[in-house]
Amino acid sequence: MYSEPIIRPMTSRDLDDVLVVEHLSFTLPWSKRMFEDELSNPQAHYLVLELGEHVIGYGGFWKILDEGHITNIAVHRDFRGKSYGKKLLKALLEHARNLGIHALTLEVRVSNAAAIALYEGFGFEKAGVRKRYYADNQEDALIMWLQLH
Ligand SMILES: CC(C)(COP(=O)(O)OP(=O)(O)OC[C@H]1O[C@@H](n2cnc3c(N)ncnc32)[C@H](O)[C@@H]1OP(=O)(O)O)[C@@H](O)C(=O)NCCC(=O)NCCS
Repeated sequence: MYSEPIIRPMTSRDLDDVLVVEHLSFTLPWSKRMFEDELSNPQAHYLVLELGEHVIGYGGFWKILDEGHITNIAVHRDFRGKSYGKKLLKALLEHARNLGIHALTLEVRVSNAAAIALYEGFGFEKAGVRKRYYADNQEDALIMWLQLH
């Protein structure tokens, strides 16, 4: 039995677990160095979802004036479909609100139905397309925005 999930800020000690999830989740995964750079960027805000002894999900955004740009959100493959993605996104939105952010944007692959449904569930709306945004297969990115009230 697992204990209740905890959501807290990411630290460098989380990066081994984060990289496992990252490689299971993305065809163009970020490197450890990229996450280290994010952790030392004062405008970058990353949260992890810890279950038992491991981090099984994370997500983050950059704060740019009063807007936020979500850079990534991922849940370990073995733990998807259990509402952890929703918990993480809810926590990210609360964190953004507390920082005075009024609107959040993100890009998502047009084929990523699970992520698009997750975002739409929180009120994100489709706002445009970036043609051939992803380098691996030239897939388009959907641009989504959420106004925070
Ligand atoms: C997107 C992701 C984070 C969702 O995490 P999750 O923990 O599985 O999501 P949840 O269980 O909290 O589900 C939240 C909502 O997402 C949608 N969803 C989740 N899995 C889905 C699926 N397989 N098909 C369609 N919708 C799905 C549903 O709307 C769901 O809400 P509901 O349970 O009320 O129907 C996860 O699939 C993931 O890590 N994917 C790989 C990384 C990725 O693509 N990240 C997004 C980059 S932009």
